[in-house]
Amino acid sequence: MTDLTRKEFLKLTGAAAATGALAATGLGASVANAQSSDLLHRPIHSSGEMIPAVGLGTAMTFGDLSQDFNQRKNAIAALFREGATVIDTSPTYSNAEQVVGRALDELGARDKCFLATKISIMGKQEGIDQNNKSFEDLRTNKMELLQVHNLKDTDAHLDTINGLREEGKVKYVGITHFRDSLNDEAAKVIENNKIDFIQCHYNLLNQSIENRVLPAAREHGVAVMVNVPFARGRLFGPTAGAGIEIPEWSKDFGVDSWGKFFLKYILGREEVTVIIPGTVNDYHVVDNVGALRGRLPTETERKRMVDFIEAL
Ligand SMILES: NC(=O)c1ccc[n+]([C@@H]2O[C@H](COP(=O)([O-])OP(=O)(O)OC[C@H]3O[C@@H](n4cnc5c(N)ncnc54)[C@H](OP(=O)(O)O)[C@@H]3O)[C@@H](O)[C@H]2O)c1
Repeated sequence: MTDLTRKEFLKLTGAAAATGALAATGLGASVANAQSSDLLHRPIHSSGEMIPAVGLGTAMTFGDLSQDFNQRKNAIAALFREGATVIDTSPTYSNAEQVVGRALDELGARDKCFLATKISIMGKQEGIDQNNKSFEDLRTNKMELLQVHNLKDTDAHLDTINGLREEGKVKYVGITHFRDSLNDEAAKVIENNKIDFIQCHYNLLNQSIENRVLPAAREHGVAVMVNVPFARGRLFGPTAGAGIEIPEWSKDFGVDSWGKFFLKYILGREEVTVIIPGTVNDYHVVDNVGALRGRLPTETERKRMVDFIEAL
């Protein structure tokens, strides 16, 4: 794997990392793909691979088999149609892996997908068994990203995931969590292990990862996948839900919905590689991926966004 220099990182992360800026980097085919899109792409620092900076999360209701399968399939189809690729799931999200696997199969879209899942159980052998079932449910023989879920039995599962990488079944190694109380432990894993991704929480109601996790990720060249970008939907309550209009000044940086307002705030941090908003609705997928167009808010504008939400 090649490590990007900080200079290259900043160059690639800059304004809409697409268009002309990528031509000069010589980072290969994945970069060429990024050039063909008007969507913001960000680099996975350990390899230089560029990925669209918004994807799809599948916790909450995605795996509910009593719900209409075609609705979920349409959400996934919309993701690819809009030019995004990343899907995050887990063996613990009810039947989400089965739904994702079947949808990718029926859409013939496995090769378009940057597929991320997790090992989420205590015990090394239990983790191996759980992951074997994930491969089956996802109907795949490779995973782009395999993560230790919520830092549960981290050393045992990192060993397993690194072994799968050696075998060519897994491309990137990661850890996840979404609790303030685990920020320090997550930062230590970044500092003491060679991992490619950290997945953690970051949104307009919670910026706790700015203290230790983001600096550690930056220093060690670890890509950051952001979960719960809408605080599990809570951000919509006092805004869209209360009939509050998006502020006029946010239209200057391409905001035309509350979803984009919340996502562009997160994308304003250059350490963020990809955000995985959870939704079962194709029109929300289109809205969310749309946050990758247009410029990002400046630091002053981001501060104004925090103040606006805090004042509600
Ligand atoms: N420890 C971990 O590893 C961990 C923990 C938590 C989450 N995650 C991952 O992160 C993903 C995101 O978190 P989350 O799903 O819990 O919460 P979230 O993304 O913060 O919020 C999801 C909620 O937002 C709504 N929504 C999505 N897009 C919208 C839009 N454009 N406009 C209006 N409403 C919208 C969804 O409803 P609709 O379905 O109606 O659109 C859903 O109710 C998860 O799905 C999962 O993949 C990982």
